[in-house]
Amino acid sequence: MDKFVIKGGNPLVGEVEIGGAKNAALAILTAAIMTDEPVTVENIPDVSDINVLLEAISVIGATTERIDRHTVRINGSTIGSISVDYEFIKKIRASYYLLGALLGKYKRAEVPLPGGCNIGSRPIDQHLKGFRALGATVEIRHGVIVASAENLHGAHIFMDMVSVGATINIMMAAALAQGNTIIENAAREPHVVDTANFLNSMGANIKGAGTDVIRIRGVEKLHRSSYAIVPDMIEAGTYMFAAAATKGDVLVKNVIPKHLEAMTAKLVEIGCDVEEFDDAVRITAKHRLGRTHVKTLPYPGFPTDMQPQISVVLGLAEGTSIVTESIFENRFKYVDELARMGASIKVEGNTAIIDGIATLTGARINAPDLRAGAALVIAGLAAEGITVVEDIVYIERGYEDFDKKLRLLGAEIEKVTEEREIQKFRLRVG
Ligand code: EPZ
Repeated sequence: MDKFVIKGGNPLVGEVEIGGAKNAALAILTAAIMTDEPVTVENIPDVSDINVLLEAISVIGATTERIDRHTVRINGSTIGSISVDYEFIKKIRASYYLLGALLGKYKRAEVPLPGGCNIGSRPIDQHLKGFRALGATVEIRHGVIVASAENLHGAHIFMDMVSVGATINIMMAAALAQGNTIIENAAREPHVVDTANFLNSMGANIKGAGTDVIRIRGVEKLHRSSYAIVPDMIEAGTYMFAAAATKGDVLVKNVIPKHLEAMTAKLVEIGCDVEEFDDAVRITAKHRLGRTHVKTLPYPGFPTDMQPQISVVLGLAEGTSIVTESIFENRFKYVDELARMGASIKVEGNTAIIDGIATLTGARINAPDLRAGAALVIAGLAAEGITVVEDIVYIERGYEDFDKKLRLLGAEIEKVTEEREIQKFRLRVG
């Protein structure tokens, strides 16, 4: 099993280039099968979640062709099945976007019901409620969601909670329904906006994405398009907090600074300097940082996908901070791992009370999920001595070239498989 071995203590200094947003790409690549004409999508991150989704798309018969590492051409005209294999849903929940895409295009879809995952139980009732409102019959049979309709029609849908996945899934199906759909209490995340923009580039008529009311006028069919995915705000935020944790100075390039504002505001509040440029932000942390309180919220609030990373930074800040996780119930699993590095964090329900300490010490730890894994790497970069992060397969689901990009910033980090490689690393770094 691959692991990262890290010698901590180097401030991160330099420039890092951010790739396309994984969570936008998952939705957009799925939406690309909704036309029978070819679609080219650029700025796709080369991460395992995307590669699994592309496999799921090609297994139902769509043609997928990788033009280069970050560009894919998809043609949905060759699709021969509306039934998605459980193997894909098990590996990557976002394959459930095929439900909205196939239902919209073929008025029928069969996708296994995803189970819970490492960060929480993650029900999809709002997705199904939306499809039903559009006129589909939705049943669960033998673990599979079977959705079908003679005709989909527009509807006025009130979401019971703000859900990125449900907003996108319903938007896709409604794009090819007859008449007008209004989604109220819609998610406002940049990846929702990017998916709407992409669908519009294929001829859909979607207005209001980025606000909490999205209006969709159904069209008969979609057409060819060429589109580039927005930069990944969570990848960017991860490097911003890595710079803060290591008292570094990092220019995070190829970002949309507006998408990063919740994170920028917290970094400034705890004592970092943040300079904004047109498509970059520079984070400088010169002194020990200060405490703050954070509550995760849907966009434009502080993202749940950045909760572990900010908690690591606060674990090293002066004073006591309170972090409240309000989106997923199981997103503090990394705290036990951080405790092995000396952190002083007490979790009560959905709240972590963090007493900042001056230094963490390297230890052997396990990545419990994608973002927590990235946060533990940040902890290792800031800690004294050697840290080994196991189960990095989670990290590779969402971060392209994580170790390589960190090395370019001066980090001593290597990806290893064997124990003896860890010994070699220890000897080399002293
Ligand atoms: C998306 O998940 C992201 N995944 C997650 O990123 C991210 O953490 C999350 O949004 C919140 O920002 C993708 O975009 C592929 P939700 P999603 O539906 O769409 C509840 C990462 O690390 N809910 O917005 O599944 C749900 O349980 C991943 O990149 C229902 O109750 O999240 C949660 O409490 C992890 N019923 C809240 O809503 C529903 O039908 C928000 O979930 C749907 C959601």
